Amino acid sequence: MKNMDMRNNIFLKTFGCQMNEYDSELIRSILSEKGYTFTESEQEADIIMLNTCSVRETASRKIIELVNFLRHQLNGKPTLIGILGCMATDQKLNLLGKKSKVDFIAGPDSYQKLPELIEIAKTKKQSFDFELSKEIDYDGIYPTRKKGVNAWLAIMRGCDNFCTFCIVPYTRGRERSRSPQSILKEARKLAAEGFPQVTLLGQNVNSYHAGDYNFPRLIKEVSAIKGIKRIRFMSPNPKDFPNALVETIASSDNICKHVHLPLQSGSSRILDLMNRTYSKENFLTLVSQIRKTCPNIAITTDIIVGFPTETDEDFVETLDVLKKVRFDAAFTFKYSQRSGTIAQKKFKDDISPDVKKERIIALNKIQRNISLEENQKCIGKTVEALVEEEGTEKECRGRTDSFKIVSFNEKRAVGDFVKIKIHDASFFGLRGKLVD
Ligand code: 5AD
Ligand code: SF4
Repeated sequence: MKNMDMRNNIFLKTFGCQMNEYDSELIRSILSEKGYTFTESEQEADIIMLNTCSVRETASRKIIELVNFLRHQLNGKPTLIGILGCMATDQKLNLLGKKSKVDFIAGPDSYQKLPELIEIAKTKKQSFDFELSKEIDYDGIYPTRKKGVNAWLAIMRGCDNFCTFCIVPYTRGRERSRSPQSILKEARKLAAEGFPQVTLLGQNVNSYHAGDYNFPRLIKEVSAIKGIKRIRFMSPNPKDFPNALVETIASSDNICKHVHLPLQSGSSRILDLMNRTYSKENFLTLVSQIRKTCPNIAITTDIIVGFPTETDEDFVETLDVLKKVRFDAAFTFKYSQRSGTIAQKKFKDDISPDVKKERIIALNKIQRNISLEENQKCIGKTVEALVEEEGTEKECRGRTDSFKIVSFNEKRAVGDFVKIKIHDASFFGLRGKLVD
């Protein structure tokens, strides 16, 4: 039944990871179905919803500041404010109560209850649902995606790894895999709708399992669907990266030659404290196996500096992995203690902000130089790029299969594949001329 209430115009803002982007598309679909509409303007909205992230303290703090700012700006206007996603489960106790500036709260497994929660909030009662489920996978709800190049496709939800620094197992709950039939059906629909790229999402895609399907089988069947030109996935955990997956990547034309392989630390002692269940040597062996099977594959990573007890010697081990592997790019973070995690319970956050800062600066300097040198190897070569966003005559951008940004000076349409002869490189990407 359509909801005829006029106060149903929603402004939805998404923070954090790709899984949250995907969830926001699910939320749009669930609420549009019930007659709610969406606006790009906070001022026009009757309901403001923030789909939040709590992976690091800075992310959470930003949201609390934003809620305070919005309330101030709204100046008594009765706009409802809702907190969705990871902060809803992580910060529930701080968000509830009479003094709260938030009207409703919905955790990552509660989005189907949103219409109900909003209706209660309209009666001036704070409403919430942050129950985590072992089953909910939103199967059968087709996300309202923005037209463009890439479609996110979640193949699983939650995480059972319990890396000691990470809040995700607590905010997103237990791991569950979606049925392969429904994933493949959705992928066929995406191909029919003309999305050239599909990115399969999960907190740890290699632990995907459903019936006779594991991740290599699933991605192989997605790659056989006609019309999908590029398939990406994120993220695998280095602890279980089967060679069958590397072989599938190597032998499938439309699976991008890129893996995002989060290292987190190069010190086996720290990796153990992080409960990553692999050592520095295991990681280096995995990288050589991947490169042996698929020689030109690009490898990117995530690294945390300043985990509790990290010494200069531990940090040097991380730099050593950086130099040995020569990642194409690295996303680097200062350790941020998250309440309720194993690391918070077991260790003191004993690395000072100054030392964390020094280490991240040193790490980024070395990595930028490596990224620059790796990118310079493309100079003189012609690469294929997929145009991912609206450009101009002066600046148009695409991405290679290996995830490198390529800029050129001619306007091409989003979704076009272009050939670019590279004449310049920075740590950030490549620049070249269109070849006809
Ligand atoms: N502190 C800093 N970085 C973190 N990450 C996850 N949890 C934390 C934390 N507590 C980083 C990891 C992960 C990426 C998504 O965020 O590197 O791979
Ligand atoms: Fe995504 Fe992690 Fe942030 Fe949750 S905490 S939104 S899973 S990045």
